[in-house]
Amino acid sequence: SKLSYKETYRPQFHFSPPEKWMNDPNGLVYNDGVYHLFYQYYPDATVWGPMHWGHATSKDMVTWENKPIALYPDRHGLIFSGSAVVDNNNTSGFGKEGETPLVAIYTYHLMEGEKAGRKDFQTQGIAYSLDNGESWIKYNGNPVIENNGIKDFRDPKVSWHHETQSWVMALVAGDHAKFYRSKNLKEWNYISDFGKNQGAHGGVWECPDLFKLKVEGTDEEKWVLIISIGSGGPNGGSGTQYFVGDFDGTTFTSEQTEFKWLDWGTDNYAGVTYNNSLNDDRIFVGWMSNWQYALSTPTTTWRSAMTVPRRLSLKKHNESYTLQNYPLESLSTLMQKTNKETLNIASNEEKKLIYDNLNETKITFKTDSKDFKIKLGNKAGESVSIKFDSASELVIIDRTKSGKTDFQPEFGNKLHYMPINNLPASQFEVQILMDRSSMELFINGGQYVMTEQLFPNENYTDLYIKNTNAMAGLSLKDLSIAKMSSIW
Ligand code: FRU
Repeated sequence: SKLSYKETYRPQFHFSPPEKWMNDPNGLVYNDGVYHLFYQYYPDATVWGPMHWGHATSKDMVTWENKPIALYPDRHGLIFSGSAVVDNNNTSGFGKEGETPLVAIYTYHLMEGEKAGRKDFQTQGIAYSLDNGESWIKYNGNPVIENNGIKDFRDPKVSWHHETQSWVMALVAGDHAKFYRSKNLKEWNYISDFGKNQGAHGGVWECPDLFKLKVEGTDEEKWVLIISIGSGGPNGGSGTQYFVGDFDGTTFTSEQTEFKWLDWGTDNYAGVTYNNSLNDDRIFVGWMSNWQYALSTPTTTWRSAMTVPRRLSLKKHNESYTLQNYPLESLSTLMQKTNKETLNIASNEEKKLIYDNLNETKITFKTDSKDFKIKLGNKAGESVSIKFDSASELVIIDRTKSGKTDFQPEFGNKLHYMPINNLPASQFEVQILMDRSSMELFINGGQYVMTEQLFPNENYTDLYIKNTNAMAGLSLKDLSIAKMSSIW
């Protein structure tokens, strides 16, 4: 039956499960006209519980169709995060003549093993589908990777490595990533480790992803390794870091010494990218929450949503590689008619614009100023603000009075900071996507990104723009405030 998706806080142009608990995106793969989105799912409650893989599909990455649960727990354990591949050459042998199997590679989590204090409670298993994801069969030789005593051993991301004509798996093992290789997706050989002494380690490593990208505007190719950490993120709690380096088919190396965050907001976790996308596109989806308070956000029949799908690109700014992430162009098909205008604001002045509802909108403009503040307010006296500050080279988000915040102390107890020291002095674009319970901020085409959940008690209707520069006027060019249509 078609659900209404009309509840307060129910995202209107983001994916959220029809009901109950969701966390990580899983098995992101494109095959035969269909983008699959599987996800960590507990169908019996709105809090985390024994994990399944929920399932949705899309033809355009804009609208989504809910599908039946794809993978259920079995005697090897619960179904934790993982990936899916299109086995074009039928290397697995799961396909009969002419059939192309979809193969899911995931973690088995054995609760009894964990309760008994064993360290080997997580192993890796596979399942396949011969009807483009409609139905799934577990491999009878599971698990395909046993565990020799590693406590957190999970989240396999598999992709085809063209140069060696083999499958490569990235997987996490507590404080580092491990790589494995296979010819048939069933037998796996360990090949290398990465990261014990690199990157952020404020929490266990989770949800790795390894892929190659061309550096924009050059012929240089680099490999990127994405790693999520459950705690120790840039503004508290969960966060997603990345490494830019090289992968020779066996070992990933990176000369990077600083931490790099894919998103500086509090609510973009466990994100990974699509396998087998058209035109070599690297499309990323993250879980729009944070383990600090994910279990207690004030939604009703369901809990959590995904970020909008974002295109990843690699750019060099001042000799430093940046993994940019920016909403897919196709999302703009949801925009209702909008005017583009120039808004000029004198030094130290504030303008207030009033709208029916700013909670389902896309706001964009261009500017070269780094001294202004945008605030969205409502009739309940609540507001959320984004402040650009050139002196400190920071963007600061304040959601402390944005609405419901007291469901968990960490949600609204502090400001969130993002350094913008590599932002060009010339004109850049700012894009803000507001859905009913989230805000996504993209600066300069995704060079700087913050994703934040929000739970206002009323829709935001008032837009305040303040020029905080004491010396110069502020000019916002091509300012557009477009209502976004619901996809449900
Ligand atoms: C990340 C994570 C994964 C794990 C899954 C369990 O949020 O902890 O490491 O596979 O969630 O639901």
